[in-house]
Amino acid sequence: MSHPQASEAFEIRRQEPGDAAAVEALNEAGFGPGRFAKSAWRLREGVRPVAELSFVAIEGGALRGSVRFWPIRVGNSEALLLGPLAVDGAQRGRGIGVALMQAGIAAAQAGPWPAILLVGDEPYYAKVGFSRLPPGRVRFPGPVDPSRVLGLSLKPGGLLNLSGLIRRPHIDEPVCADGAGLG
Ligand SMILES: CC(C)(COP(=O)(O)OP(=O)(O)OC[C@H]1O[C@@H](n2cnc3c(N)ncnc32)[C@H](O)[C@@H]1OP(=O)(O)O)[C@@H](O)C(=O)NCCC(=O)NCCS
Repeated sequence: MSHPQASEAFEIRRQEPGDAAAVEALNEAGFGPGRFAKSAWRLREGVRPVAELSFVAIEGGALRGSVRFWPIRVGNSEALLLGPLAVDGAQRGRGIGVALMQAGIAAAQAGPWPAILLVGDEPYYAKVGFSRLPPGRVRFPGPVDPSRVLGLSLKPGGLLNLSGLIRRPHIDEPVCADGAGLG
């Protein structure tokens, strides 16, 4: 799909295996090595991103931006974690980040997930519909600024029904009462 404004000629397409090295370089430039210590990154360790929700922005053969979504479990529900979202430092402010998120959100709406969570700046992510969750509704497996925990429903009421500890699907054993009985 193309961005609607002709002057902004980047194209948004699904990520392909051949994009991996360039995407990694973009994330390294955008977030640095400290990214691996963040709570959101811990949820990605050993888990693959959802392939059909991974998009890149391409212009003239060059990678301009990337977005991925990871599967997570929140309490008893499956959900998605948005990120990393990164745009080439020289290409910011052109709508690439928003266009990437819109592509991912539209694709996610066709899937089974009730909602998307992320950790980020509300003023930015509000552009695509994210809003702050009530503090304590969901818990990351590590320290997170509660004012940066944002969510977006993909199905009616999808966000309202999400609560509890956030874990990696099929890897993390429940460690507290709200996850009892789940593997
Ligand atoms: C955040 C990021 C993805 C934005 O990408 P982008 O392509 O420049 O974003 P867009 O062009 O779609 O949107 C730009 C708009 O968002 C605003 N914006 C960008 N980052 C913002 C932030 N952190 N908080 C509030 N507004 C922000 C810009 O001021 C601009 O506003 P305007 O449209 O009113 O002028 C990019 O700056 C980036 O890669 N940063 C480093 C990695 C990062 O922090 N990723 C996000 C955390 S997951």
